[in-house]
Amino acid sequence: MRYGLKDRVVFITGASSGIGRACAIEYHRAGSRVVATARSFDKLEALASQLGGDRIVPVVMDVTDPVEREIALRTTRERFGPVDVLVNNAGWASFGTVLRMPDEHFERMLAINFTAPVALIQAVLPEMLERGSGQIVNISSVVGSQAIPRMTTYSAAKAALTALSTGLRMELKGTGVDVLLVAPGSTNTSFFEAAGTVDAKAERLSQASYSPERVARAVVRSSRRRRREITLTLEGKLITVIRRASHRLADAIMYRVAKSTMPELER
Ligand SMILES: NC(=O)c1ccc[n+]([C@@H]2O[C@H](COP(=O)([O-])OP(=O)(O)OC[C@H]3O[C@@H](n4cnc5c(N)ncnc54)[C@H](OP(=O)(O)O)[C@@H]3O)[C@@H](O)[C@H]2O)c1
Repeated sequence: MRYGLKDRVVFITGASSGIGRACAIEYHRAGSRVVATARSFDKLEALASQLGGDRIVPVVMDVTDPVEREIALRTTRERFGPVDVLVNNAGWASFGTVLRMPDEHFERMLAINFTAPVALIQAVLPEMLERGSGQIVNISSVVGSQAIPRMTTYSAAKAALTALSTGLRMELKGTGVDVLLVAPGSTNTSFFEAAGTVDAKAERLSQASYSPERVARAVVRSSRRRRREITLTLEGKLITVIRRASHRLADAIMYRVAKSTMPELER
């Protein structure tokens, strides 16, 4: 059975840019009521005025701040009602080796990519369970199942979100609440410019990147079809399949990708 998106309340983190922004537009196009959250209010306001009407609300929220999360969810309830679809999209990476990754960068990666999504899930899940319906959409990454060197700590944070999604789906079996795990491959967004830099740097990992709009169309289609997991980009799908056949080969490929796209910086 399909999940109708018309009038659903969709709460999106990291909606000021890239994949999150494109998801806000795509869910809005599907007839949903969208709460677009991020730290950059000017960008959210620009998005809201671009879409127009009363089915989009911009809300400032740093995902790592419990008070801002609470206020954003309260605003959502007051404006639209309880959240039907939570899209945990906000993400951040720092480029560098495990050896030199500062605690502060590692903690920030874990907080944005893993701890905050868990807190938001815990906040919206009770009402979803009461209604016997809802969706948790977690935007992880291909590197959540096949790590890449020099982004190892980011890969680990995404691996945590990937495992959480799988386990949570089993915990929610039979409740009517879906969990959709999205593993994008290289996507053309400002992700690489926004990233931290320790002892490596990358512009992007592949020339064969998807546009954020293409990722968003896949997310919304999968949300409607109640799919469990999607992996995006041909290269992303390939590396996932190769890993199942040979960890050694998958590691060798990712080693070469890192070497050619993430040069070590002078220290
Ligand atoms: N681009 C890729 O190649 C790629 C590949 C695989 C997975 N992903 C994942 O896809 C997701 C979206 O990334 P993107 O590519 O669209 O990158 P992006 O364009 O840099 O967007 C990241 C979004 O996260 C928000 N954000 C960052 N820190 C935040 C915080 N503390 N609180 C609230 N929002 C925060 C940013 O908004 P503000 O700065 O306004 O807060 C922005 O809206 C991320 O989870 C990323 O890990 C990306």
